Amino acid sequence: MKPKELNKIYKGDCNTLLKDTNFFPDKSVDLIITSPPYADKRKSTYGGIHPDKYVEWFKPISKELHRVLKDNGSFILNIKEHPKNGERGTYVLELILEMKKQGWLWIEEYCWYKKNSFPGKWPNRFRDSWERCLHFTKKKDFKMYQEAVKVPIGDWAAKRFKSMSEDDFIRRVSKNNNHLARNVSNWLNKKKVFPHNVIVFEEEHRLYLSNVVESAVESSSKKNHSAIFPIELPSWFIHLFTKERDVVLDPFMGSGSTAVAALLNHRNYLGTEIQSEYVKEATKNILEVEEEVLKNKKKKPTHKKIHT
Ligand SMILES: C[S@@+](CC[C@H](N)C(=O)[O-])C[C@H]1O[C@@H](n2cnc3c(N)ncnc32)[C@H](O)[C@@H]1O
Repeated sequence: MKPKELNKIYKGDCNTLLKDTNFFPDKSVDLIITSPPYADKRKSTYGGIHPDKYVEWFKPISKELHRVLKDNGSFILNIKEHPKNGERGTYVLELILEMKKQGWLWIEEYCWYKKNSFPGKWPNRFRDSWERCLHFTKKKDFKMYQEAVKVPIGDWAAKRFKSMSEDDFIRRVSKNNNHLARNVSNWLNKKKVFPHNVIVFEEEHRLYLSNVVESAVESSSKKNHSAIFPIELPSWFIHLFTKERDVVLDPFMGSGSTAVAALLNHRNYLGTEIQSEYVKEATKNILEVEEEVLKNKKKKPTHKKIHT
């Protein structure tokens, strides 16, 4: 079944709204990408769930997300446990175990490297510069468009390929018995390679983004929300796990970054957000992007329709 409406953000608690099978029918969404409130964070803006209560709070939500996701879809959960009383919490790890009991497969953990962390001095650790992007699916066989996020091979290649040994032309098994094997010659003359699982948005990693997405990326830092993720993060996963016109859901929509990324990449979005001011903010950001896309369409007639 299809959702009653696409390209809409519902105002309210996702825990209640997601249960509405008219808005969110079974197996109707291709990709879920979201950044829920982290435990104990931003109490003044939107609550802050105690780490000990987090898993119980999230479980009914992840149960509904499992229901609405298509069998070949993916769920990306951006989350990070913070240190408390000198040590890291474990609620994210506990959540992963609980979600596995719900039927989720934990496929991968992407590390999102955040370049904007402030320098500082802590007694027992260094500055925190990454967050988890946990990848869950319902089945082992899911849609993944790896070609869509290839990156330039990098400067190391020219030097490495100048001096090839015989060994480089055979599939060589790793000497430390870790069952890894590689054939270096496979990459000769290749301009692009698959990226690694540390997501770093350097210039060259953005090549898959259109000019329109680039300009939205530039302006996304100005958005009026205390915990936005940059447009390029949902954009990257949208490219990796969906095709044009697929449906992308963000149950914690905030300032609308996921919706904006979906629109810019010609996908449909759905979302929920509990705070009216953020629904307004998201709506404003979405309208701005729609105007921008239309303007660009006039300049470049090859751009495709955003709504289907
Ligand atoms: C970390 S922010 C998401 C930011 C978003 N990714 C962005 O780029 O703007 C989490 C959002 O979830 C919203 N929220 C918190 N509890 C919620 C709930 N039960 N249902 C729906 N939204 C909720 C908060 O108001 C906040 O805007």
